[in-house]
Amino acid sequence: MDLMNNLLEGNIKWVEDTLERDPDFFKGLAAGQQPEYLWIGCSDSRVPASEITNQLPGSIFVHRNIANQVGNTDMNMLSVVYYAVKYLKVKHILVVGHYGCGGVLAAMSNISFGFLDNWLVNIKNVYSKYQDELDAIDDEHKRGNRLVELNVVEQVRNLAKISFIQEEWEQGEFPQIHGLVYSLSNGKLVDLEVSTNSSQKMRPVFQFNKD
Ligand code: CO
Repeated sequence: MDLMNNLLEGNIKWVEDTLERDPDFFKGLAAGQQPEYLWIGCSDSRVPASEITNQLPGSIFVHRNIANQVGNTDMNMLSVVYYAVKYLKVKHILVVGHYGCGGVLAAMSNISFGFLDNWLVNIKNVYSKYQDELDAIDDEHKRGNRLVELNVVEQVRNLAKISFIQEEWEQGEFPQIHGLVYSLSNGKLVDLEVSTNSSQKMRPVFQFNKD
């Protein structure tokens, strides 16, 4: 069957099923969105935010890129975060990595992937920062898994470096930033327990003066 028809017919079936469950479903969503979560995840087709957390459309604002990067000069990512934090007032920001991430494994290798090498530099920087710990792990698979985790930890920190997020923390306890890893092999999300809603533990150079 034609690949495009596959999607369009899937859409028709989904609309039918959804209306059967809740005839007013689309009326509600058309009125606006009030998501409580911002998800920053990998573009990988196996890690769809809503499905793996059993959420319906309308509950998670999503930004995905290769290897769930939070680049502090990435206008696309920053704009998504700004809108989510300042306008949608999301309570939780989740950085979600996944074991077996192709982007992370590519960054760990010495193979050139052309233009993509530029994107992967950020992850190579994470490797470099934790080189002693990572080099001490003999098993390549385990080393990759650890880099996946450390990559998430560093992206959580990069979010905490954003001045408009620190500005929110002056007003209250939100947004809380969390680091999670998804396992492709068992479908489970693991909390890395690096949640933060304060700049206090960051190195002083990253902390902005309060008014
Ligand atoms: Co990935």
